[in-house]
Amino acid sequence: MNRVLRIDSSITGDNSVSRQLASELIERLSAKEGEEGITLVERDFAKQPIPHLDGERLGALFVAAEARTPEQAEAVAFADTLIEELVDADTVVITLPMYNFSVPSMLKAWIDHVARAGVTFKYTESGVVGLLENKKVYLVSALGGIHEAGVTDFMRPYIKQVLGFLGITDVESISAEGLNMGDEARAEGLSKARSEIQQAVA
Ligand SMILES: Cc1cc2nc3c(=O)[nH]c(=O)nc-3n(C[C@H](O)[C@H](O)[C@H](O)COP(=O)(O)O)c2cc1C
Repeated sequence: MNRVLRIDSSITGDNSVSRQLASELIERLSAKEGEEGITLVERDFAKQPIPHLDGERLGALFVAAEARTPEQAEAVAFADTLIEELVDADTVVITLPMYNFSVPSMLKAWIDHVARAGVTFKYTESGVVGLLENKKVYLVSALGGIHEAGVTDFMRPYIKQVLGFLGITDVESISAEGLNMGDEARAEGLSKARSEIQQAVA
């Protein structure tokens, strides 16, 4: 059974291109599994906002479980749930709308919750080791303009760095670029992304 975790970070709801493309990708992934299908877990930040990892939430992680206040217990349980969803997934589909050259701030907050020393990565004498293995990640990006990695695109390189840090190296990128550059550029960007989806689930 292919357990798929879908993470949506666009704030534009049904008008979101990254959401639309991710739905098309997941439909194909499901069809490929045949009768068994997929088990889909959805984490949609537009419906359930992700809070920042503030001092209270970080501090709660260092309080013994039996000594936590109800608020601290709730904060830890929330982050634990995000981690469990990620750990349990075979496949993760992350939608990536570009906001100000980088990832949406709630996606950054999600990363701050799930990157936890001793749980999703660990420090060793020879360096950091990611603890999340055997997962496939699809990054479904939507960009108003056209951007080059490391020059004006800090989104795709950043998320790949974070995933690698956690041990996830099987990452496939699907990108729709030039969406706000006029009808022709938009159509071209969408068409390229759709052919990347086809190739990804061939
Ligand atoms: C707050 C905000 C910031 C944006 N910043 C950028 C940007 O830096 N570069 C860019 O090419 N497009 C930018 N855009 C355009 C989006 O990347 C584009 O609309 C894309 O389709 C968003 O993905 P979505 O359709 O899934 O919401 C921005 C859009 C918003 C709402």
